[in-house]
Amino acid sequence: MLQRIEHCVDCIRNITNRKPEIGITLGSGLADFVNALENTLEVPYEKIEGFPRPTVKGHEGKLIFGTFHGTEVVVLDGRVHYYEGYSQQETVIPVRVLQRIGVHTMILSNACGGINYAFKPGDIMLIEDHINMSGSNPLIGENLDAFGLRFPDMSEVYSQKLWKTLQQKAKDAGIETKHGVYMMYSGPSFETPAEIRAFRVLGADAVGMSTVPEAIAAVHAGMDVMGISVITNMAAGMLKQKLTHEEVLETGEKVREPFAQLIALAIDTIQENNAQKMDVVI
Ligand code: HPA
Repeated sequence: MLQRIEHCVDCIRNITNRKPEIGITLGSGLADFVNALENTLEVPYEKIEGFPRPTVKGHEGKLIFGTFHGTEVVVLDGRVHYYEGYSQQETVIPVRVLQRIGVHTMILSNACGGINYAFKPGDIMLIEDHINMSGSNPLIGENLDAFGLRFPDMSEVYSQKLWKTLQQKAKDAGIETKHGVYMMYSGPSFETPAEIRAFRVLGADAVGMSTVPEAIAAVHAGMDVMGISVITNMAAGMLKQKLTHEEVLETGEKVREPFAQLIALAIDTIQENNAQKMDVVI
């Protein structure tokens, strides 16, 4: 696995020597933010040998390098999911490759179902913690010592300082955000109403089919993580209607603008936080 990751890094390095600091994964229908990037360079996943590729037709995926407010970032436009048949170890190759080319903070976004009755479709939830109900873990197997410890601490996966600062910044900009616990379910079937009732009792505010493996691998590799969820629908059984992927995409479409703004504010938040860290070091 380590060799596969290093080979991906070599493939990227044969194309560009850019060193992004922030990596961003954009969830279904949430790719608007890339329009705000300058000096972009696209690297299709197919040019990176060994990089896992989404199985959805027309979404083969690409890395988009760019600058935002002077910061070098890279967007993973297209992500692979556990439910596609990839192992969780494979789904986190992209995060690990990004870490190797310079990324120190991941912004992980997703579309998900709301479990908390105080939420409504179109709400944006800052992830404060997660519950891994996926049935697996990306760190199973031989530990990659080059990245991190065998038993990494997970007591603050989503930097509190970052999400609380972002919450305030968003409020100042007139964007209301919720915050809560994200639960990962393997999918690809949506959950049953009984599962949703159980997950609510367990402490989940929202449920989706991604993000948790990437967050675990990022923390394992010493990266900071921010998680941003778009509540695209209420989870199964909460409303009379049935769940469809179309509803997920439609709601995503409606929040494109505030969502893209929020990603921009998240990058500013990370940069300010870094500048403060530097001050402390100096
Ligand atoms: N459940 C799981 N994943 C999802 C949902 C949901 O209700 N909505 C969007 N992704």
